[in-house]
Amino acid sequence: MRFFIDTASLDHIKEARELGILDGVTTNPSLMAKEGISGDSNIKAHYKKICDLVDGDVSAEVISTDFEGIVAEGKELVKIAPNIVVKVPMIKEGIRAIRWFSDNGIRTNCTLVFSAGQAILAAKAGATYISPFIGRVDDTNWDGIQLIHQIAEIYAIQGYDTEILAASIRNSRHIVQSAQSGADIVTCPLSAILGLLKHPLTDIGLAKFLADHKKSNS
Ligand code: E4P
Repeated sequence: MRFFIDTASLDHIKEARELGILDGVTTNPSLMAKEGISGDSNIKAHYKKICDLVDGDVSAEVISTDFEGIVAEGKELVKIAPNIVVKVPMIKEGIRAIRWFSDNGIRTNCTLVFSAGQAILAAKAGATYISPFIGRVDDTNWDGIQLIHQIAEIYAIQGYDTEILAASIRNSRHIVQSAQSGADIVTCPLSAILGLLKHPLTDIGLAKFLADHKKSNS
């Protein structure tokens, strides 16, 4: 399973990259706004900085909701860097645009996926990735991880090439469960990635090793 970071923060991207485990980045308009990035040229310049930081794919989301607008935006976004993937919402016009991008060699990430039916449609349209939003499904008292499992089963049975990019990850447990459920990639905030490091027995064990070493070497 590959690891993407879900952020527009250059500092967070650098920190994850330094760990040596970073395979890509996803952003969305809310994450860009959180970093205070606004205006078309500033947004594009920020995407360029992100693309220069990572070798892997960087999802850049369109704002348009009509076919012509989505296609026009996507064409501009892919000019920024070769590792840009156009992030397109799961709407009727979005599916049409994903088909157009796929037919024209432009890679896409179909976002805002909340059901297996949506995942099937996106795969049929030729999406490179789909992003099921685990945390937001959980927020509605449904099971986000079960959705990943269901989509993975369907994609395996049907032989779809589209990759499952588990998104809206809220904690480290979601990462482990995504791996167990057949996600190809997880995109997570830095806190969830760093949370994987934590175990109290590791801390206790290390403290004991260091104390014993100090005792016998002083
Ligand atoms: C990633 O592609 C999504 O935009 C993101 O994971 C959404 O996460 P949230 O539900 O925590 O906002």
